[in-house]
Amino acid sequence: MNSTTDHRQLYKAFRDIISVVHSSIHLEDVMDLVAWKATEILGAKGAILRLLNIDTDELEISASYGISTEYLAKGPVSHHRTITDVCRQKKVIIIEELRTDARVQYPQEAWSEGYRFIIDVPLSVADDVVGILRLYFTKVRHFSEIELDWIIAIAEQCSCALGKARLIDTYEFKYHELATQTEKLSALGRMAAGIAHEINNPLAGVLLYSSNMIKKVPKGDALEEGLQVIIDETIRCRKIIQELLEFSKGREPTKVPTNINDIIGKALNILENEFLLNRIDMDKSLAPDLPDIMADGSQMEQVFVNLLLNAVQAVPEGGTIQVKSSLNQQESSVSIEVKDNGPGIGRKEQSKIFEPFFSTKPNGTGLGLSVSYGIVRNHQGNISVHSQPGEGTRFLINLPITQQESRGLHSALAGTAINK
Ligand SMILES: Nc1ncnc2c1ncn2[C@@H]1O[C@H](COP(=O)(O)OP(=O)(O)OP(=O)(O)O)[C@@H](O)[C@H]1O
Ligand SMILES: [Mg+2]
Repeated sequence: MNSTTDHRQLYKAFRDIISVVHSSIHLEDVMDLVAWKATEILGAKGAILRLLNIDTDELEISASYGISTEYLAKGPVSHHRTITDVCRQKKVIIIEELRTDARVQYPQEAWSEGYRFIIDVPLSVADDVVGILRLYFTKVRHFSEIELDWIIAIAEQCSCALGKARLIDTYEFKYHELATQTEKLSALGRMAAGIAHEINNPLAGVLLYSSNMIKKVPKGDALEEGLQVIIDETIRCRKIIQELLEFSKGREPTKVPTNINDIIGKALNILENEFLLNRIDMDKSLAPDLPDIMADGSQMEQVFVNLLLNAVQAVPEGGTIQVKSSLNQQESSVSIEVKDNGPGIGRKEQSKIFEPFFSTKPNGTGLGLSVSYGIVRNHQGNISVHSQPGEGTRFLINLPITQQESRGLHSALAGTAINK
């Protein structure tokens, strides 16, 4: 071991790093400390910690210590020369001939800085090398086993912080996406409610007058056909408006104890002919003894009809649709899954399908899912889509079991345990 590095120093530096890894959510704090401690403890002139940017395919400087601004200004380096197969062994890579070694991208500049010896320590997250900690020395030196172990352990702690930061990023992104989606839908809902109210009254007038007029027109008159078109189209508009109002919480659900399996059964009956006509294989798996939940049966029926109809429209002739209900004891909720083996939905479309009027169908109004979303949210539930193009689509609904029912469920479960 180098005379300047005793066990106590190594241990203390390691402890400092661990404490920052656990206490800070800022990756920069960990990386700065690692660059500094590694330089100091191993007697290097400086250190650069580079992380892989997958968009540019380059290793970008994320932290440094003791390195001149001129050298840092060289910027990112190609990852192809640095993240090589040898890095996957998670060992320290020693570079003695830095003027000829392919791993060193700016050998002349490194030499001018007084660097004569370099070590690379790979940083990995879940078996992928995502960065390199490089230490620059002014002369060749030997490392003891303990020192090599120490630097590997430091790199592992840094990797751990990297993994944590990525996890936080993913959750932040998902949360932001969800918050934007919810905000967008509630703004659209408010707008839809306003428009729907404005249109509803003139529409009622058009329907009233055209219905009165058609009664006065003699059968077979040239006007009759035109008036019938006006009536039919006005009724269609009224239906759309009603659905819009429902989407925008225009109709509060009338909640009564409801068995979700019964509602699924009703929705399946409504669509029975569609299944037969399209030779669709219906795979039904409903959990027995599902507790009743407080729900508006007719609204929930509409949700299942919408989902099943979309599935029918998505699958090819002879396709398969699965409907599953289950009790989610941990979350005290009832889960319903509608899955098809249709073409699936691309990632970009997935973020739009719950918006009103988004449709990829020639005659679709694009309201089915937005109305369903509104209904499920009014039941304090949530609806999500899971799909990969080419691999079908799965809609998942979770409806909470109300507190009272949940107590009933828990005591029933407790009773079962005691009886056993
Ligand atoms: N199971 C599915 N498979 C593939 N795409 C789907 C599926 N369900 C929904 N989609 C996509 O989501 C869009 C929106 O669905 P939504 O039910 O809201 O409207 P729509 O079916 O187009 O019209 P409608 O208002 O008549 O229901 C669809 O146009 C379709 O692109
Ligand atoms: Mg639809």
